Amino acid sequence: MNRQKIVAGNWKMNKTLQEAKCLAELIVNKAPHNDVKKIIIPPFPFLDSVSQVLSSRPDFNLGAQNCHIHSSGAFTGEVSAAMLQSVGCSYVLIGHSERRQYFKEKTPEFVQKIKLALSNGLSPIYCVGETLEERKLNRHFEIITEQLTSILSEFKLDEFSKFIIAYEPVWAIGTGETATSGQAQEMHAHIRSVLIDFYNSAVAGHTPILYGGSCNPGNARELFQCPDVDGGLIGGASLNEDFCSIIGSF
Ligand code: 13P
Repeated sequence: MNRQKIVAGNWKMNKTLQEAKCLAELIVNKAPHNDVKKIIIPPFPFLDSVSQVLSSRPDFNLGAQNCHIHSSGAFTGEVSAAMLQSVGCSYVLIGHSERRQYFKEKTPEFVQKIKLALSNGLSPIYCVGETLEERKLNRHFEIITEQLTSILSEFKLDEFSKFIIAYEPVWAIGTGETATSGQAQEMHAHIRSVLIDFYNSAVAGHTPILYGGSCNPGNARELFQCPDVDGGLIGGASLNEDFCSIIGSF
């Protein structure tokens, strides 16, 4: 199955405007020209400026780290899916473990956010991942199945065809501890089997599933060689030139 290869960089809450523009320019100048779709996901205030830097490379796309559950109105401090679309975003992260952990976001919010993302032409990058405790209790497959099916039951096949899934084990995020390629492949194959059960094998076969969690130039190639790993969602290593090496790691 020939699936789109994707490397996405989630900058999280890092950089100033000047630094963000410099980083985007560095990446655009140094990233290999290959068949990998590249997605840059900067903080909200830098979206427009980064979008302008990316415009010279059609293989680069813009994503946002979050959107609000309502389409507009008196929600001080929030950002809507329509706003993201208007500054050039094509993707939005939903369900990131940091949103689950620190902001207590749960399935009902994710469903509302994804609905608004889709209706504004944004593709959701829906993140799933188990904690270390859940893995130690051998509950990781069950947890990922639940995080997926609770969302999928709300979306029809044509809506789901816009999704990207990211598997990010919480114990691997920002810890320097990466899932082994065996652990990643096993979970990505599991995710694909859930998609087969829920929709069908054609949809499951076309859905990009990214790995995230301490992915770096030293481990990306081995991870990306796994048959069910279609690329990476990169945190720390997206904040410097390492991101370009990861893009060249297929
Ligand atoms: P790290 O690559 O820093 O572990 O972060 C992964 C992540 O959370 C990307 O969304």
